[in-house]
Amino acid sequence: MDSPPAPPDRWGRPLKNLRISVTDRCNLRCAYCMPEEEYAWLPKPSLLRFEELDRLARVFAGLGVDRVRLTGGEPLLRRDLHVLVSLLAGIPGLEEVTLTTNGVLLAEQAESLKHAGLKRLTVSLDTLRPERFLELSRRDDLPRVLSGIDRARAVGFAPLKLDMVVLRGTNDDEIQSLLDYARGIGAELRYIEYMDVGGATKWTKEAVVSRQEILERLRKSHGPIEAVDEKNSAPADRYRLGDGTTFGIISSTTQPFCGTCDRARLTADGRWFLCLYARTGVDLGRAMRSGASEEELRTLICDGWSAREDRGAMTRLLELERAALAPVDELRRDPHLEMHTRGG
Ligand code: 5AD
Ligand code: SF4
Repeated sequence: MDSPPAPPDRWGRPLKNLRISVTDRCNLRCAYCMPEEEYAWLPKPSLLRFEELDRLARVFAGLGVDRVRLTGGEPLLRRDLHVLVSLLAGIPGLEEVTLTTNGVLLAEQAESLKHAGLKRLTVSLDTLRPERFLELSRRDDLPRVLSGIDRARAVGFAPLKLDMVVLRGTNDDEIQSLLDYARGIGAELRYIEYMDVGGATKWTKEAVVSRQEILERLRKSHGPIEAVDEKNSAPADRYRLGDGTTFGIISSTTQPFCGTCDRARLTADGRWFLCLYARTGVDLGRAMRSGASEEELRTLICDGWSAREDRGAMTRLLELERAALAPVDELRRDPHLEMHTRGG
């Protein structure tokens, strides 16, 4: 590290983790993320080039960020993404570069990503039924996702993580079968509670299946479950079945982890958000393009982080009449509020 780390935020949380959304475009339309027919996209020229993303990532790494995750939208839609991965993998202080993908384009890219230095991979997988996949994501691509998963394993991504957003009445009857599938291929499944983030315009609290309910259902089907004791800032709480199989639950909705949240998000056009639920962000992209020096970027980041008070998910928990975060017309006016823009 070439400078002191960024000062902790107002609640004493350090800046360690950066999620970079490399594109707001996506080749699926998951019901919990992109349920609308039309979207306003970030203008193409505003998307940061790989060298620009690399430059920002270097500044962050110099301030204490040691993990970068590439997300989207669908990150594999960004042409030659492996080139960005190899740039980032060479940044001193960055211990790992990881990626979250929907898997559709993974079979073609797994090998080049591995060679570029990608450490770990998370694939979103909400169902194993082709007709349900089509209904849930409006694309008939389950076979491609499954072959992407196979390919990722074959080139040595292990342990692979699989993320399942659980929606009552849609895929909650697959809580067990997805765990069995993951166990069968040596992957770790993580259940994600349905969140009322921007973009989730169809969110209702009735559709949320809580961590507690997931555990109760799994105890009935898979026997005793013990909690795996871990002290880290990872959002997933991990559990173990009697046979040693582990899985995770990310209970952002019913038991948020804001207290230890050390992450921030960068959109593809360089807007830096300090919380998934934040309404505004720091425009690092514009600062950089208008000629900000490294020192000036550092100052923007340190000032932003030290003033950070966000505990978005916890604040939402206290709201009585909880519904989708932002109405459709507001999302149209500012696509930065969308989950697919700021990174899932
Ligand atoms: N609730 C929970 N997770 C979501 N994601 C997107 N929208 C939501 C939502 N409303 C996350 C999921 C998905 C990833 C791409 O983004 O983890 O797998
Ligand atoms: Fe689905 Fe991810 Fe695309 Fe959203 S960004 S529509 S969750 S694949």
